[in-house]
Amino acid sequence: MPSVYIKTYGCQMNERDSEAVAAQLVARGWSLAQSEATADVVLLNTCSVRDFAEQKAINKMSNVVGTARSEKRDQIVGFMGCMAQSRGQELIDKLPDVDLVLGTQKFHRAAEYLDELLAGTRKKIVDTEAEAKSEATIREHLLNGSAKTSVSAFVSIMQGCNQHCTFCIVPATRGEERSRTIPDIVAECRELVARGVREITLLGQIVTSFGRREKRDEWQVARDATDVSLVTRHPSPVTPFVQLLDAIHELDGLERIRFTSPHPKGYGDDLVEAYARLPKLCESAHIPLQSGSDRILKLMHRGYTREKFLGIIQKLRQAKPNIGIYTDIIVGFPGETEEDFEQTLSLCREVKFDNAYIFKYSERRDTPAATMPDQVPQAIREERNERLLNLVNEIAARKYDAFIGRQVQILVEGPSKKNAARYTGRTRCNRIVLFDGSARHQGQLMDVKIERTGSFTLYGDPAVVNL
Ligand code: 5AD
Repeated sequence: MPSVYIKTYGCQMNERDSEAVAAQLVARGWSLAQSEATADVVLLNTCSVRDFAEQKAINKMSNVVGTARSEKRDQIVGFMGCMAQSRGQELIDKLPDVDLVLGTQKFHRAAEYLDELLAGTRKKIVDTEAEAKSEATIREHLLNGSAKTSVSAFVSIMQGCNQHCTFCIVPATRGEERSRTIPDIVAECRELVARGVREITLLGQIVTSFGRREKRDEWQVARDATDVSLVTRHPSPVTPFVQLLDAIHELDGLERIRFTSPHPKGYGDDLVEAYARLPKLCESAHIPLQSGSDRILKLMHRGYTREKFLGIIQKLRQAKPNIGIYTDIIVGFPGETEEDFEQTLSLCREVKFDNAYIFKYSERRDTPAATMPDQVPQAIREERNERLLNLVNEIAARKYDAFIGRQVQILVEGPSKKNAARYTGRTRCNRIVLFDGSARHQGQLMDVKIERTGSFTLYGDPAVVNL
């Protein structure tokens, strides 16, 4: 049977899609190659969110095909995911050695297409068509792949985004919002827990909009088909997303629930209350801010103001004082002035994010912002990026240092990648903790005392490990 090597670019949703493709192939007897050089098939699961991510994947593909050709190896190579979806045939025109271009609603067809390409019954396949119900096909897991994945698993609950932020290519790469049903997701989670998973992260491009677009009657039929008691706890106006959290919370043996990525507009009172009400829901939130300036938020079509965002953070901290709050920020959006940028700096000083991912604005084709006036020169994007990064890192480092001496609960995921003598776990607020552990700690919830900090890591004291 053939072997496959999958390289993933971009977000956790992409990681999850790659895992589902790998699991699909493994179920048919394929093996997972350790490197691209030894694989019969190489797939690059791509990201389009910034130009840099696209260029990286294109360069990688040129290297892969160049090396295979110079070593006279027969290898099937393909692009899948977001860039495959947005560029389609164009990718083969650019790189004629590419055999497969598989869009974001077609991951479940990977095995069938690869079989055809390997058998030579087809020479090139490009499939980027929309497919109804494809959101429910990202289901299979590779739990025995790495030790870590058996403790913590990702579950895809919805696909697509209807928010249409003016900078963002995702509506074009992932399509309209489409959600799985609650019983289907609960069944997948239940299976994972039965296989030893203790933490589940619910994934989607805009998870807080889960179930909003599904017709009530279809939803009801789907619910009635299984365990109604799990999902009808609250009368409306509890959002379908909070209903889903409630349903998953019921699963015995599951210790922790997380989700990503939400939209600030999804933090209604029902979700804030869920943090206070559901002990398994970990107190961490990745809430994309994008800008601290109301003028820019409006141009971005974000649907909230600075004040509204600050109000959400305040409510969350009232519900859970130790909540870890992470964010994404774009600098150099078209029309962003020094005053607008200073609004972002001041908001960061006020909120004190536990960490922030900062991105220089990147023009994406067919997005409204790409043709807006007053594009910000690259040099200014760079300069703002650096200034914001310095501020965010300084605040984050202080927050890390505040952990020293504190006792925290971690879920142990497995051996550290860099140093196998060390084990790694995460706090409920989603910080990585390293400690001197062993295999018996894996999958355990333990209390450790934080001794010192490294860059974006905490070191726990094994002497006070509480077993
Ligand atoms: N340019 C720069 N950053 C972007 N992001 C999304 N689109 C762009 C773009 N065109 C960032 C946003 C988003 C994160 C995943 O990527 O901050 O939250």
